[in-house]
Amino acid sequence: MERELALEIVRVTELGALASASWIGRGDKDAADNAATTAIRSMFDSVSIDGTVVIGEGEMDDAPMLYIGEKVGNKQGPSVDVAVDPLEGTEVVASGLQNAQSVIAIADKGSLLHAPDIYMEKLACGPDLAGRLNLADPPEITLTKASHILGKSLSEMTVMVLDRDRHKGLVSTLRRMGVRINLLSHGDVAGAIAAALPESGVDLYLGSGGAPEGVLAAAALKCLGGEMQGQLLPQGPFEMQRCLSMGIENPARVLYMEDMVGNGDVIFAATGVTGSDFLNGVRFIGKERAETHSVIMRAQSRTIRYIRSIHFLPGKEIPQVSPGRQVASL
Ligand code: FBP
Repeated sequence: MERELALEIVRVTELGALASASWIGRGDKDAADNAATTAIRSMFDSVSIDGTVVIGEGEMDDAPMLYIGEKVGNKQGPSVDVAVDPLEGTEVVASGLQNAQSVIAIADKGSLLHAPDIYMEKLACGPDLAGRLNLADPPEITLTKASHILGKSLSEMTVMVLDRDRHKGLVSTLRRMGVRINLLSHGDVAGAIAAALPESGVDLYLGSGGAPEGVLAAAALKCLGGEMQGQLLPQGPFEMQRCLSMGIENPARVLYMEDMVGNGDVIFAATGVTGSDFLNGVRFIGKERAETHSVIMRAQSRTIRYIRSIHFLPGKEIPQVSPGRQVASL
């Protein structure tokens, strides 16, 4: 993949973020998601890839756009797999809370896991811990190993976890061990990424969340030299069948980086919709401008670029930019 593609991809996430940001705090998560999806779908047409969506908005029958198997791009570039979450954190945008972003990862064709939309148990960490921990270990062992490797006492460790009832046991174990806990309301792609960013102060990400988000986070962690391990958690025969139909023969197996993102190059881009630890959200400036903050990373070079853009809105085609109005441009 050409490095210039990275900039083309970030233009797509920027538009997704701008479109959904108009819905911040308005209590309508479907409208926010629809705005981001429509914007991203329209922008993909100009990107120089021959892309196939492997992680998207769902099956063709349920999702009018960015459905799994949909072809995206202008076909004048490499054949790639596309994982896209136009709005990661629909609920948080609707509620006006933090941690929503527009996210895309692209990788050489055939390398991204076709993850069903079910839960996945996750462990994410940065370069110092990559390859040295095991998702199958109980959290006590993982934390003890990690603190030893990092040369920190348990009380100096910070673990990020999604704030969910299902994590009560994990949280009380972590509290008993005396580690710091950073609870996240939503948006575990950003949570997993935090574990690999030294400036975040987060040492580990643990707990279950969406499997598609797990693959997106794995793409980012590959670019950061970190690691994601995942284990699918099918609930009942329907989800089990879903795994099998997507080519996952043994859903109980721990998935490693090569299972989720392959061995080739990966480009990951995200633009903040509402703010997170590592990306500011969209800020509207006056009537005509908006500021976005994005990150763009590439596995091959391991370069991490933060891009602050000031957009002139009247010159931009942002579908559904304004709640209540279906406009093609302002
Ligand atoms: P959506 O964008 O689909 O709302 O997902 C937000 C999210 O917080 C993900 O980041 C996370 O993987 C998943 O939901 C966790 O699911 P649940 O809210 O059911 O625990």
